[in-house]
Amino acid sequence: MIYLPDRQNNTESGATIVLGITGGIAAYKAVEVARRLMDKGIHVLPVMTDEAMQFIGPLTLSALCSEPVQSSLFNSTNPIPHTRLAQRANVIAIVPATANFIAKLSCGLADDLLSTTVLASKAPVIVCAAMHTEMWENAAVAHNIEILQSRGMHIIPPDEGKLAGGDSGVGRLATIDTIVEHIESVLHMVTGNDRSDSNTRKTDSNTTKTDSTGNSSGDHSAKDLAGYKVLVTAGGTREPIDAVRVITNRSSGKQGYAVAMNAYNRGAEVTLITTVDGVVSPDIRRIFVETAAEMEKEVLNYSTSADIIVMAAAVADFRPTIQSHTKLHRSDGIVQLQLEPTSDILAGLAAKHTPGQIIVGFAAEIGMDEESAQKKLTSKGIDIIVLNDITSAQAGFDSPNNEVVIMDSDGVRIEVPLLSKDTVAGVIMDVALTRLKDTRHYTG
Ligand code: CTP
Repeated sequence: MIYLPDRQNNTESGATIVLGITGGIAAYKAVEVARRLMDKGIHVLPVMTDEAMQFIGPLTLSALCSEPVQSSLFNSTNPIPHTRLAQRANVIAIVPATANFIAKLSCGLADDLLSTTVLASKAPVIVCAAMHTEMWENAAVAHNIEILQSRGMHIIPPDEGKLAGGDSGVGRLATIDTIVEHIESVLHMVTGNDRSDSNTRKTDSNTTKTDSTGNSSGDHSAKDLAGYKVLVTAGGTREPIDAVRVITNRSSGKQGYAVAMNAYNRGAEVTLITTVDGVVSPDIRRIFVETAAEMEKEVLNYSTSADIIVMAAAVADFRPTIQSHTKLHRSDGIVQLQLEPTSDILAGLAAKHTPGQIIVGFAAEIGMDEESAQKKLTSKGIDIIVLNDITSAQAGFDSPNNEVVIMDSDGVRIEVPLLSKDTVAGVIMDVALTRLKDTRHYTG
């Protein structure tokens, strides 16, 4: 007889996760993911498919996790294990997710405990894909991934590296750090941490500072954006040079995602047009694009009905005039790249401005160059500009924090000190909402 250790009562964080393991060689890595989550005080419910058990025995996970492994839909003590799991989960993470399981999710199949649990749950789903390169690049898999993304599932794509059988390429499960970090972010989002804890004050001099904690009396649980439509862009666009190379920039999309989540938490109907994946509620409509032209097309599709538009994306100003559809080879020598300007989406939006609509742009500058930001505010004809210093060590591209100055076309100037991008997002939406109400008040 095998004795399992006493179950750890992992309720410290108050969070419960269903950890789904499907049948791939990377299944053994789920053990380390489970251990790390347990260490963080997260209650881990392991669910394995029959195929996963060909790769690792259930005993290790049963010993390590908060409860024993479940794998069958038919259980004499609990006739409906999938609904119990589905209801208890704050998040479902599938580590690894095989091509076959991704296809099942895409079709909505429910032929084992894990797929049935996903179908029965309203919890966010994180899919950590791992498979051979050819499978990952197969059009069917790519299509299924797009379907899952469009339903709001979080996809953690595979990394490049050594694969089963001695091959190498894209397909290796993302690092444990990446997976655990992503799970924590999604848990943070769904377990009720109200991130919109910022406040803005308008003074007589039209200049104000938020306090250094970003905390204040601003009560956004009141859903003050309910009934409004907010359109947000995020990430850096990618302009193809040839079939494999692109011109892009270092934007992470984090500030745009934070704005989208803040607006959503405050009750807005949110559309996010993005070049990058990130953590966001499945109820936000997300549209993935690559190039400035694609972003422009989608922005124009949704802009007319939007009450507030926040252009947080770093849009390329130039693209190669000619894009090769094949790969340019080193042996062909150095190519002279000819560039042509892209359209200025923000200026185009401002020109079409529907009455009472608020348009917010960003000014990515070297240093806190208020003069340059002010010029962009005026020349683009927008309502609000958010200035940030892209060279700042603490608030640069990939940082979770930001430090900005927000200016509007009425001369309001708000300095926001170094705070989380979530908090900065709250201040931006405060300013946009105040301006929206002012505008509508005066225009009737
Ligand atoms: N923007 C845009 N379309 C472009 C370039 C930028 O809509 N083709 C938007 C960005 O989303 C941002 C704002 O314009 O909200 C300012 O972007 P920024 O890169 O700071 O300025 P640019 O207008 O590109 O000018 P420069 O690169 O010369 O600073």
